[in-house]
Amino acid sequence: MASARVVAELECLRCHAVYDDQRLFTGCPRCAQQSVNVNLTVRVPAAARGPLTPESFPAAPRSLWRFRRLLPLPDAEPVSLGEGATPLVPLERLGRRLGVPRLYAKDESQNPTWSYKDRLCSLAVTHAVATGARVITIASTGNHGASTAAYAARAGLPCVIFTLASVPDTMKTLMQSYGAAVVACATSEQRWTLMREGIERGGWYPTSGWVVPPIGSNPFGVEGYKTIAYEIAEDLGWTAPDVVAVPSCYSDGLYGIWKGWVELERLRGSPRCAIRTGSGCRSPTRASSRPSGRSRARRGSTPSPPRWSG
Ligand SMILES: Cc1ncc(COP(=O)(O)O)c(C=O)c1O
Ligand SMILES: [Zn+2]
Repeated sequence: MASARVVAELECLRCHAVYDDQRLFTGCPRCAQQSVNVNLTVRVPAAARGPLTPESFPAAPRSLWRFRRLLPLPDAEPVSLGEGATPLVPLERLGRRLGVPRLYAKDESQNPTWSYKDRLCSLAVTHAVATGARVITIASTGNHGASTAAYAARAGLPCVIFTLASVPDTMKTLMQSYGAAVVACATSEQRWTLMREGIERGGWYPTSGWVVPPIGSNPFGVEGYKTIAYEIAEDLGWTAPDVVAVPSCYSDGLYGIWKGWVELERLRGSPRCAIRTGSGCRSPTRASSRPSGRSRARRGSTPSPPRWSG
């Protein structure tokens, strides 16, 4: 593997050990010694960001990279297809039916390859290029694979996708249409084994996880999901909604969005903005276990204006 330039540190979600290995995508080695598989998260020192206000985020580019002062890789040239900046659509009729005033949908189908995976892939492939990657790889049955293929193509890098034979041809064709080599395996374990070979022997750069049991995806990519929180906050006049419901599989999106709210809360200098996950969705962090008494916004209440600190 080409030696990777240090662009940010990685911190364990559980024991908070910090690592500067830029390709440590197999989780925390210290926790693994205790037989606990846990992912790392990118640590961007607050001092590196400088003072921030809502005006710190320029109108351009029309993508999530508007928020790059809250993202890692400050000096990297973004690998972008215009991801993010998706509409927050009011759902009045459905909200009335469900008894939820001010119900919105964040329409992530407006992303370049039609899913929120583009936020992850833009960050991950930008990190891949910044650290000298020559080949991008992923194990995926759908959107994540199509998105990885598109961003690898954008970066001019080959992409190898390990998928399942049972995946519908339409999805395989979508991945191939972005130029990826798609390898169909019989089982998930087989595709993770092949992917590991590519990573360990060939220095291929992964946008998804491949360890068993799964720990989630590439921590640099997960940073991209923070921008969902930033965009929602901005569209709501820099306030937080009562609840954000997130569809979840490995919880990359759920964790990234939660982290975005936490970082906004710290920037504002206010301890009173809380985010709760929908029922059945539990963040691997302490977000969902916060005492509800600390939550500012109640259902139907008007959130107070944010206070930003420098
Ligand atoms: C459209 C869409 N939403 C949500 C998810 C869940 O993703 P995560 O692994 O971030 O929980 C996926 C992928 O599995 C997806 O394709
Ligand atoms: Zn750890």
